[in-house]
Amino acid sequence: MRIHRIASALALASLALVAASPAAATRPAATMEQPAPARAGAPGGDAGLRVAADRAGLRIGTAVDTTALADDAPYREATAREFNSVTPENVMKWQLVEPVQGTYDWAAADGLVDFARANGQKVRGHTLVWHSQNPSWLTEEAFTPAELRALLRKHIIDEVSHFKGRVYHWDVTNEIFNDDGTWRDTIWLRNLGPGYVADAFRWAHQADPRAKLYLNDYNNEGVNAKSDAYHRLVKELKAQRVPVHGYGVQGHLAVQYGVPGDTLTNLRRFEALGLESALTEVDVRMPLPTDPIKVQAQVSGFNSLLQACLLARRCVSYTLWGFTDRYSWVPGVFSGEGSATPLDEDLVRKPAYYAMRDTLTLAGR
Ligand code: XIL
Repeated sequence: MRIHRIASALALASLALVAASPAAATRPAATMEQPAPARAGAPGGDAGLRVAADRAGLRIGTAVDTTALADDAPYREATAREFNSVTPENVMKWQLVEPVQGTYDWAAADGLVDFARANGQKVRGHTLVWHSQNPSWLTEEAFTPAELRALLRKHIIDEVSHFKGRVYHWDVTNEIFNDDGTWRDTIWLRNLGPGYVADAFRWAHQADPRAKLYLNDYNNEGVNAKSDAYHRLVKELKAQRVPVHGYGVQGHLAVQYGVPGDTLTNLRRFEALGLESALTEVDVRMPLPTDPIKVQAQVSGFNSLLQACLLARRCVSYTLWGFTDRYSWVPGVFSGEGSATPLDEDLVRKPAYYAMRDTLTLAGR
C-alpha cells in the first residue's frame, strides 16, 4: 500500500466535516422545501458531493472497502463527508457471509451498517443471488436442484432478516442476463430454471417487506438487447405479482467504448412499468496512461449518467464503485486500465468530481 501524502491528508483534514443530514426522500420534496443553509461553504465553495446531493434530493453513494474503512482515516473521513449512501463492495456477498456452510460471519457487514447509521447514511445491500463470489462449499458440492433451491431460500431469508430495517435497497439478483439478452448460464439457471428470479424476490420480500428489491446488471444503461431482456422480464414478474421495485444500472463505463446516449430513455421505460431505478456501481476507467482527452471523456461518462438519473422521475440514487483510485477494483481486473474514480490515489479531486458536484448543485437550486 502506498504511503499517504501528508499534504493531501492535511488538505482533507482542513475541510470542514459536514454534519450528517438525511437526504430528502424524493426530488419533488427537495424542490418544494427550502434548502438547508450551507454548513461547509456556499455553492462553489468547498462543500462536498453530499451537501449538493442532499439539496438535490438524491442519494449519492459509494462502494466501501471495509478494510480501508478500518485502517485509513482519510478514506473513512471522506466516506462520511462525501456520501449519504453506502454499499458494501464485498462483505455482504455469499462467499463472505457464509464461508463455511452453516456458519455465518456478519462482523464486517455489521460494522459498515453501524458506520452508516452513525453518519446518517442509507445502506444498499449487495448482492443476494449471483454467479460469482459464491462459497466453494456451495459451488463444488454436488447438490441436487431441490437442495440448491432450499440453500438459496435459506441464504436469502437469513441474510435479509439479519439486516431487516437496516438495509433499504437489496440487489436481489446480479448479472442474470448475457449482453445479447439470453439467460446467463449459472448454477441457478442450470438447476432451478429462470423461475429462480421470481422465487428470490418473493423470499427477500417475505424477510423484509419494506426493503426495495432491485435487479442489477452492467451494460444495461441504454436501450439494447440486455435491457430489452430486463424489460420483458419485469413485465412478466409484474404480471405474476412478484415484488420487484427497482432497476439497477451498474454503470461501469470505459472511455474507449464511449458513453451510452440513451440512458434516460431506458430509465423512463422502466419507470413506465412502475419501477424506480438507481445507478449502482459507477466508474469510468481508461487505458493508461491518462491524457487530457481521456480525462475529458471521463467527465462525460460520470456526468451523463448523473444527468440521466436527475432527469428521470424515479432514479433515487447514484453510487460510485469506490471514490478513490487507491482502492479501485479496476487495475486488478482490466489489464492496463485504471484512473476510474473521481479522486486519485491521494484523494485529490479530478475534473469528474467537480463536474458531478456542479451538476448536483444545479439540480438542487
Ligand atoms: C467487485 C469488487 O469490486 C472486487 O473487490 C471483487 O474482487 C470482485 O467484485 N459488478 C459487481 C460487483 O456487481 O460486485 C463487482 O465488485 C464489480 C462488478
